[in-house]
Amino acid sequence: MIGFTRTSEELACDGVSLSAIAAAEGTPVYVYSAATIVQRYRDLDAAFGDYPHAIHYAFKANSTRALVALLKAQGSAVDAVSMWEVEVARVAGFAPRQIVFDGVGKSDAELESAVSLDLKAINVESAGELARVEAIAARTGAAARVAIRVNPDIDAKSHPHISTGLKINKFGVPMEDTRALVATFKDRKALKLVALHMHVGSQITSMEPIRNAALRLAELTRNAQDAGLALEYVDAGGGLGISYDGGAVPSFKEYAAAFVDALRATRLPIVVEPGRSIVGPAGALIARVLDVKPRTATSEFAVIDAGMSELMRPALYDAFHAIEPVCARVGGVKQYELVGPVCESGDVVGRDRMLTPLEVGDLVAIRDAGAYGSVMASNYNRRPLPAEVLVDNGSWKVIRRRQTLQDLLALES
Ligand code: LLP
Repeated sequence: MIGFTRTSEELACDGVSLSAIAAAEGTPVYVYSAATIVQRYRDLDAAFGDYPHAIHYAFKANSTRALVALLKAQGSAVDAVSMWEVEVARVAGFAPRQIVFDGVGKSDAELESAVSLDLKAINVESAGELARVEAIAARTGAAARVAIRVNPDIDAKSHPHISTGLKINKFGVPMEDTRALVATFKDRKALKLVALHMHVGSQITSMEPIRNAALRLAELTRNAQDAGLALEYVDAGGGLGISYDGGAVPSFKEYAAAFVDALRATRLPIVVEPGRSIVGPAGALIARVLDVKPRTATSEFAVIDAGMSELMRPALYDAFHAIEPVCARVGGVKQYELVGPVCESGDVVGRDRMLTPLEVGDLVAIRDAGAYGSVMASNYNRRPLPAEVLVDNGSWKVIRRRQTLQDLLALES
């Protein structure tokens, strides 16, 4: 059994005791299942069958070096959203041509460095940004490889903060403007248009927006090809959701088939940029109960040692993460409001949860925290970034040590 499964005594990760990990490394601690990450990567890869494709794992979801190394060994390439992510990818051994570089606001320094590295593509978000890339490339004499991020005006029906494909969102170039921009490439010697790109949102749980976006991307790509541009691939972005609450989500097969069906006519390889769907379910944040106290006539507060500083998603998006005691106590379920230690009323990790009784010192697992968990953690309240542990093949190792007060103060004078 891989992933987080219950033995008769407790919740384990790839069969390894979470209590043992917490006892050795302290809490809060992120724990990841290597086997789950590898399995999910392979399942997505296989879903494309023999259609040419490349998986550019989205570093923003989690770029801790050991996880990235695991994906690299499977054949993954990289989607980076800052020059710092590009640099981490290079430290991990990725070649520049394995990296696509996204981001709605790239500084001149980032663009200079992206052009000189000759990345697989700089995904530009506006005509203005394209002109800045062109000016840099013209100075250096090499043609810059660019893709245009299209905003297809599609409602991903995800949380408003993570929907990106509507015209009112800050991302990309509208469809009509893309056509006009593509037409300018014939005369722009310092630029090479290698692809059209889109990403309509994250945590997408229905196929309709994915299918519609794929069709629009196909149409624009065909137009560009008809106009004589030799595009190299199409970049369909990331966005496939995972089931945080047990509800149905599209499979990798349905997801890949939607792109292959829509894009086959372009005869181009498909690039995808998945983050959450690869690593999300592979991680849990393990926390300890610090206090239990009355709340209402029917519920209690369980104060745990992980909150919005370690996992921001519940406070930021009202996101649901399943929470379960690592060792379930006997006794009927009770209603708990699981709250973090941070000095904010919004620091609620789980609302109105029915759990077996919790006592001070118990461990709880906050599930599906492998993506957008540790990467979004902060030092609010001077809390150190938690440790991260990778379980691999029956044993575990610390892949990022817990931050110390010395680490925190080292930047200050
Ligand atoms: N490509 C681009 C251009 C993106 O902006 C994103 C995510 C991805 C790929 C990867 O998307 P995924 O496959 O992970 O859905 N912090 C939020 C999610 C923000 C996603 C931002 N962009 C959360 O915790 O839900």
